[in-house]
Amino acid sequence: MNKMKDFEKQIDGIISKLSLKEKIGQLNQPETPTADNAEEFKERVRNGEVGSILMSVGATAGNDAQGGISVEFYNELQRIAVEESKSGIPILFGRDVIHGHRTVFPIPLAMTASFNEELVEQSYSDIADEASNEGVHWTFTPMLDLARDPRWGRVIEGPGEDPFLGSAMAKAIVKGLQGDDPSKKGKMLACAKHYVGYGASESGIDYHRTEISDYSLNNYYLPAFKSAIDAGAVTVMSAFNDISGQPVTSSRYYLTDILRKRLGFGGFVVSDYDAVCQLAKQGVAEDDSDCTEMALNAGLDMDMHDGVYMKCLEKLVETGRVKMETVDEAVRRILRVKFQKGLFEDPYCKKGAVDIEIHRMHAKEMAAESIVLLKNEGVLPIKKSDRVALAGPFIHERRSLLGSWMLDGKPEETPNMCEAMKAKSTGGVTSVNGTDLGWDSSLKWMCNTDVTVLCLGESWTSTGEHRSVSNIALTPDQTMLIERARSTGKKVIGVLFCGRPIEMQGIADNFDALIYAWHGGSEVASAVADIIYGDNVPSGKLPITIPRKATHIPIYYNITPSGRPVDCYYGENAGECYVDSLPTPYYPFGYGLSYAKFVYGDIVCKEPEIAFDDIKSGKKFEVTIDITNEGDFDGKEVAELYIRDKLASMMRPIKELKGFKKVLIKKGETVTVTFTLGYDELGFFLPNGEYVVEPGKFDVYLGENCLTERKITVEIK
Ligand code: BGC
Repeated sequence: MNKMKDFEKQIDGIISKLSLKEKIGQLNQPETPTADNAEEFKERVRNGEVGSILMSVGATAGNDAQGGISVEFYNELQRIAVEESKSGIPILFGRDVIHGHRTVFPIPLAMTASFNEELVEQSYSDIADEASNEGVHWTFTPMLDLARDPRWGRVIEGPGEDPFLGSAMAKAIVKGLQGDDPSKKGKMLACAKHYVGYGASESGIDYHRTEISDYSLNNYYLPAFKSAIDAGAVTVMSAFNDISGQPVTSSRYYLTDILRKRLGFGGFVVSDYDAVCQLAKQGVAEDDSDCTEMALNAGLDMDMHDGVYMKCLEKLVETGRVKMETVDEAVRRILRVKFQKGLFEDPYCKKGAVDIEIHRMHAKEMAAESIVLLKNEGVLPIKKSDRVALAGPFIHERRSLLGSWMLDGKPEETPNMCEAMKAKSTGGVTSVNGTDLGWDSSLKWMCNTDVTVLCLGESWTSTGEHRSVSNIALTPDQTMLIERARSTGKKVIGVLFCGRPIEMQGIADNFDALIYAWHGGSEVASAVADIIYGDNVPSGKLPITIPRKATHIPIYYNITPSGRPVDCYYGENAGECYVDSLPTPYYPFGYGLSYAKFVYGDIVCKEPEIAFDDIKSGKKFEVTIDITNEGDFDGKEVAELYIRDKLASMMRPIKELKGFKKVLIKKGETVTVTFTLGYDELGFFLPNGEYVVEPGKFDVYLGENCLTERKITVEIK
């Protein structure tokens, strides 16, 4: 991080001159005022009561009642802070720029499906470029909540079910947003959220309780946060949830002992929206004073929106319930980040030029690599001269393509499927919107074309914050439409625009080809059309399991082995798992097809036996594999490496992802993919947080998805 040390003296100087009230002001983050209270708000800024502003009004899941950013208004507030407040400390402006600004990229879950860290980094660099140009200093992303329950609406915002993949995305997003110096033009501060365990909400219900053992916390929920911190994330948002009865908001164990002492976080922690005052509702604090005391003493530096620090902290310091040093430390952490952002040198937003055209090109590239081809029985790609029947509720849809947590993109600038298909077709595209087709006419119409493309999915309003669902199936009218299209005997291609995995049994069976396009952003429709017509080749893979039935939730690949042989995910003794349904995933983690035909060779490891001491002192070993493209298309393949620690002091997963590489393999070519493994990949965390590598045998799997059985065994002696 830039110039870190130089600031400490200046920070000392600033803190020594601040009154207690001004210090508390730095810890306070109200949201943008409405027109009605703007003048009163300016007075609060003048009085030093506003350290940061949440740049939205009443935002949840991306609704912003203010409707956009007024750079002039924010600059005016900044001018008042810098020129008219006694301390002159600039305000830090934060906004939920989650997966795009004016240009909208795919929802984060979809971006993860690209398995392409460079592309994700580039996307977030574009996002930072656009949003910082409108005065956003700080965005509340990356969202790193590992989630195994697609009923949870916020599954769309995170990296899915795997800690290794989540860690890779965390790093890419932080690097894309902050670069090597967040004070540079076009860069923003990142905020790793929601620390920690929020994705484990029971029943998939948002804001619900979680039950997470220290073993699971260390091995599943913390790694992505560690990765974001190591990549330089300067802020962390605490989560709403409790973990086994302890609200994170007031937990010194999670916010200080683990976050700072164990993970080495040196920035500041902001609460989630109103989470401090909600400690009273969670039943661990009696009133706002209690809430404030508990949160600040736990290590929570900035209070988002509820204003209880502002209301209670002065008295708490006067009465000795909170020490002045604790307040000073929180102020110091916040000022440090303001210095790192360069706000003391240049507090104002000066709008410049932003190359939206290039960003849209990147958004299309990102959408294309996020799309997962789930099924293709000789139908895709189709010819441009084919006569296409286009049907379904998503053929004219624009808004849902942009997804949830989208504040600044414009549906009217988002091509829909009908436009995107027509732009490429020479054979003609006839379309019928919705699912309400007259029986006879629709069948006849479909019979008179070469292929039917059904555009289906879920609305963005069923995804995101506070939008969990108990039913992850497609709506009955959509299922009916699929069956009717099927009954024509013509080839049927499905395109699913969803934020989460949906129940797939009875759906995929009825398609000849199936494309999972997610809520893929500004350019997803054109990316899908490219894939349908063969102008691009799909290369996304699933970052989260697609279940047969919702009743199989939670279903995830990195399960531990069972003492009785029922390793459900892997189909072992499937009939012992449920007597009434097959327990295997419909589409497993890491799964995705291509138009290219990738043939894997044998795994090669030149050193299958390595001394434990060598591994401990940093020795690495290589595992390689040849992949040949025997198909007719050039394509990108994600080679996935999993390990299994066969004997350990704690039960270890049947498979855990420890490496992936996305490589372009031209038709007829063979590419050798090399993975390097060592201490960091072979170990695990004990419940006390200690990282250990234990000697013994490790199966190393290499292949196209988590079900691969191609393996070798390596021994650490
Ligand atoms: C969400 C956060 C978000 C914050 C500010 C909260 O309700 O949980 O993810 O950053 O609001 O909008």
